[in-house]
Amino acid sequence: MGEVTYRVFSKDPVVLGGILFTILIGGIITKMVYNLYLHPLRDYPGPFFGRVTSLYYIRWNLSGLQHIKEKEWHDRYGEVIRLAPNYLSYNSNQAWKDIAGHRSSYQKGTFDKDQTFFGKPLNGAYNIAAANGDEHRRLRRLLAHAFSDKALKLQEPLLQGYVDKFINQLRQRSTSEGAIDIVKWFNFATFDMIGDLAFGEPFGLLETGKGDRYVDSIYGSVKIGTYIRAVTQVFPSPLKEVFLMLFVPKKLMEDQKHQVQLAEAKLMKRMELDTARDDFISYILKGSRMEIGEKGLSFPEMVSQAQVLILAGSETTATLLSGMTYLLLTNPSTLTKLMAEIRSSFTDQSDITLARAGQLPYLRAVLEEAMRMYPPVPNALPRLTPYPGEVICGKFVPGGVAVGLHHFSTYRSDRNFNEPDSFVPERWLPNHDKRFDGENHEAFHPFSYGPRSCLGRNLAYAELQLIATKLFWNFDLELQAESQKWMEQLTYALWQKASLNAPDDIYRHSPKVQHTRPFAMWPEPDNLQETGLPRPSRTPGGNAAYHNFHNDFSHIRDPNLQRRLVLAEIGTVPFGWYHMRAVAVAAAGFFADSLTSLL
Ligand SMILES: *[C@@H]1O[C@H](CO)[C@@H](O)[C@H](O)[C@H]1NC(C)=O
Repeated sequence: MGEVTYRVFSKDPVVLGGILFTILIGGIITKMVYNLYLHPLRDYPGPFFGRVTSLYYIRWNLSGLQHIKEKEWHDRYGEVIRLAPNYLSYNSNQAWKDIAGHRSSYQKGTFDKDQTFFGKPLNGAYNIAAANGDEHRRLRRLLAHAFSDKALKLQEPLLQGYVDKFINQLRQRSTSEGAIDIVKWFNFATFDMIGDLAFGEPFGLLETGKGDRYVDSIYGSVKIGTYIRAVTQVFPSPLKEVFLMLFVPKKLMEDQKHQVQLAEAKLMKRMELDTARDDFISYILKGSRMEIGEKGLSFPEMVSQAQVLILAGSETTATLLSGMTYLLLTNPSTLTKLMAEIRSSFTDQSDITLARAGQLPYLRAVLEEAMRMYPPVPNALPRLTPYPGEVICGKFVPGGVAVGLHHFSTYRSDRNFNEPDSFVPERWLPNHDKRFDGENHEAFHPFSYGPRSCLGRNLAYAELQLIATKLFWNFDLELQAESQKWMEQLTYALWQKASLNAPDDIYRHSPKVQHTRPFAMWPEPDNLQETGLPRPSRTPGGNAAYHNFHNDFSHIRDPNLQRRLVLAEIGTVPFGWYHMRAVAVAAAGFFADSLTSLL
């Protein structure tokens, strides 16, 4: 017998290939049948293909339309849906309590953050958003002081300074240029503030009115993170390592290294200053190893925290301000009401303090409503159920299942809000219209909920209220025709608000995107300063999956702008032959491997 087998294998690779192929296809089909009919989650509703294979959900993540599809499915199937064989998405009040709430003493384990989503930290030190268990508790305890009410009061002069700079710049530029892309300026303001608090100095964005490599590359890495996650979630080691080596653009790796190095350098510089500044770093330093020994933060840990504070504290705030502005400008009666409140509450700009801006009820309602319509973190940050399992919304879910609370579907669901797609801040006020009775405001947690909810919540409200008050105190804004559909955007973990607009058919399936001008309050001049070199049509280099976009933009003079345009391109690459070819090559390698181990 052994002889026969040997002859078949050695002499007829076609037969052998056939056998292996059959085994592989058979394996895949068995797995699919298992997922549908035998899997512990088989009884949960959801789209058919989502229940069969994880590729289906990933396909929607990669399209940037995840938020819209997920809402559609929730509307169709209910408060809990199975979107991938091992992934459940929720959109109800009870789910927040069960998944993110404080755990009772009789409950075993905690809902840890799903590490396949967050990825490994580049410098080895987890940040507070990704860390789990004791490590998270320790980080939270050390960082909480930086966000106390006392700290916020001390930070007020710094915040005021940047908001005034923001207002001055808008004023100057709207007279000289007549054109303001307000999304950009919200970003500059929030990044400079948080940069100052977390790195000890601003990025200088408000000063120069220009982007910065650190800030730009954050946008690049958020989008491409979705692609990297897709690879790591679909392929087992060592295939995924090979794929990552093939696919992740060098540029991105360099940008990420740059981010860490810059954070290290800035922290070092700030530590040498040894001043009595009331920024985050003063608190981070108080919790460092040098101050409190072993239990304190190591240098890499300090760097990781500073970085995550920058990301969490700036982009999201700018997003909400942009969304709020858009929603107000498309709902003129609301805008009028808000302006009336702001302009009748103060006699002079200098009266606008954090405390007083925080006492404007209509503004607060506008902010809540903007967060509901356009939550800065639209998609879920998934958790894992603890072993041996846990009851969520009255049903048992086994351990190790990924579960997520989907903000966008929750806040746009008519099970939770009446007229969910209309912008009506009044629903948040105590004396609201009857139409809004019986809404489920308990399901609304844009800053998350429970022991892992956002530490920066109060700081965020402070910034939002201060910026919004001073903005509408100073300016009458008008939405430009080209920005009418600004909110129809793609999401890759965060909203792609700056440089992408979706085409009209976003609600159909096309994942295609086109570049349009960003959201502008006044007509924008053509500020693409070209180098005078002939404008290339599509240039060779790279491949169909990662075309050499740098060449395409070689005619743009401003390197920062060039970088931004290139980064924006990278995520929009359609699925193409190159991907198929890479899969085929890998599959061949896989067969060859199994062949050697068989023989
Ligand atoms: C797709 O989104 C879900 C929920 O946010 C997440 O669990 C998963 O990691 C995402 N996958 C990719 C490839 O981004």
